[in-house]
Amino acid sequence: MSEKRKINEEKLESSKKTLLANQPDVYQDIQESNVNIDKVNDDNDEHEHSFENNDVKKNEEIHEEKIEEIKKKCKFKQEYVDNNVILSVNHLKQYFFFGKGTNRYKLKAVHDVSFQIHEGECFGLVGESGCGKTTTGRSIIRLYNITSGSIYYKGYRIGAGSRWNEKEIKYTKIRLKNKLKELAADLKNGKISQEEHDKEAASAKEYAENIIKVQKAKIKQIKHDNTHVDPKLMQEIQMIFQDPIDSLDPRMTVESIISEGLQIQGHHNRAENHKKVVEALEKVGLIEDYTNRYPHEFSGGQRQRIGIARALVMNPKFLICDEPISALDVSIRAQIINLLNDLKEEMGLSLLFIAHDLSVVKYFCDRIAVMYFGEMVELATSDELFKHPLHPYTKSLLSAIPKPNPLTEKNRVRITYNPQESHDYSVEKPRFVEILPGHWILANTPEIEKYKEEIKELDANSKSDH
Ligand SMILES: Nc1ncnc2c1ncn2[C@@H]1O[C@H](COP(=O)(O)OP(=O)(O)OP(=O)(O)O)[C@@H](O)[C@H]1O
Ligand SMILES: [Mg+2]
Repeated sequence: MSEKRKINEEKLESSKKTLLANQPDVYQDIQESNVNIDKVNDDNDEHEHSFENNDVKKNEEIHEEKIEEIKKKCKFKQEYVDNNVILSVNHLKQYFFFGKGTNRYKLKAVHDVSFQIHEGECFGLVGESGCGKTTTGRSIIRLYNITSGSIYYKGYRIGAGSRWNEKEIKYTKIRLKNKLKELAADLKNGKISQEEHDKEAASAKEYAENIIKVQKAKIKQIKHDNTHVDPKLMQEIQMIFQDPIDSLDPRMTVESIISEGLQIQGHHNRAENHKKVVEALEKVGLIEDYTNRYPHEFSGGQRQRIGIARALVMNPKFLICDEPISALDVSIRAQIINLLNDLKEEMGLSLLFIAHDLSVVKYFCDRIAVMYFGEMVELATSDELFKHPLHPYTKSLLSAIPKPNPLTEKNRVRITYNPQESHDYSVEKPRFVEILPGHWILANTPEIEKYKEEIKELDANSKSDH
């Protein structure tokens, strides 16, 4: 870790503490949720370079100014976290509820997902069908009101859910009720005196009231943040949707599909919009003549390009690509991947690339997160994940990749993943731990030991191979 970075981090930490001391209710969440993820960045080169390029003093001044700015503003100001991460997803939960009354049940599409994406980074999200990848992407662009957790873009909270806070209030009330009942029983049985009873009951009530007050303030802050998101900030996040057929309105021409976003943002100059549409089409390798045609008149690959052009016309800084190539044939896949790669370089985009196949993200993404059943099970850099695949689900995904050599392909053993057989979480629940620098895995203590042994074995094998 460079000297400059150390100084900068210390200063950043001390400013954060000042901030927390002044507004504990509002900023506690940020600190709590950043604890785990901050560690991921420790060994990230990009993080280090960005600090090296900047003057430490200048950074600190900017930081102080930002904090002062926040403090000056009214009580409910959109939350702000200062770090050089473009997108931060903290403990995201997205549940869907069905039915009514006793038939009401919930589906945990995404359950406690956290990750951070750095500027210019391509972050891959991989997992089987139905594991919650699209739901994560849709939650980021605010197509859903998220159930719990927070999403920060460029440090500003753009989405948050209050279910956890509501539950905390509910359970605090229940705990208080039980405590008071216990105290009343003790008093009745003569275990404690009236004076002791009153004193303990008063302190329990005060404790519960404080928790409720803090949680209510947090809920208010969440509601405020959800209703005061800067549209210009949201415009910077665009999504290429999974289905190139259904995501394009069949009754609209290509021009109106692509320029719709511009119009919603208040750009009503037809000539200018047309120019931007043509520019976007050209970027994705299509021509101006296509503007008056309808989606059904295009091939699958062309439709996918129209979807990309629709996202690009808004001049995004952050692009969510939801399986942009899985609906396409192999020859067009490479074209789209190359196109996205070029656009990434040209426009300085940061990407969240969703796929269900590890081979697709291997060369394209800097870091890869593996999801299973709404949870993140492993997170590492691309090279590290392929060097040390540890979680049985990651191994299963890797074993599914066909090998180009017919001889080795013949001997490929397909590993199936069965969570009941692979894990024993009856004694200890798993947690997301950093097993190697930048390599995170969902595991409990015995599993961590096992994985450490596996790493040693893999390293020894690779050395002997060389
Ligand atoms: N709007 C919704 N209402 C109810 N349930 C939903 C909704 N959207 C998604 N789900 C459910 O959430 C789960 C996750 O869906 P999601 O679309 O995120 O999966 P995915 O990982 O993108 O899968 P695929 O690779 O097939 O696209 C699924 O079980 C799905 O049925
Ligand atoms: Mg999907």
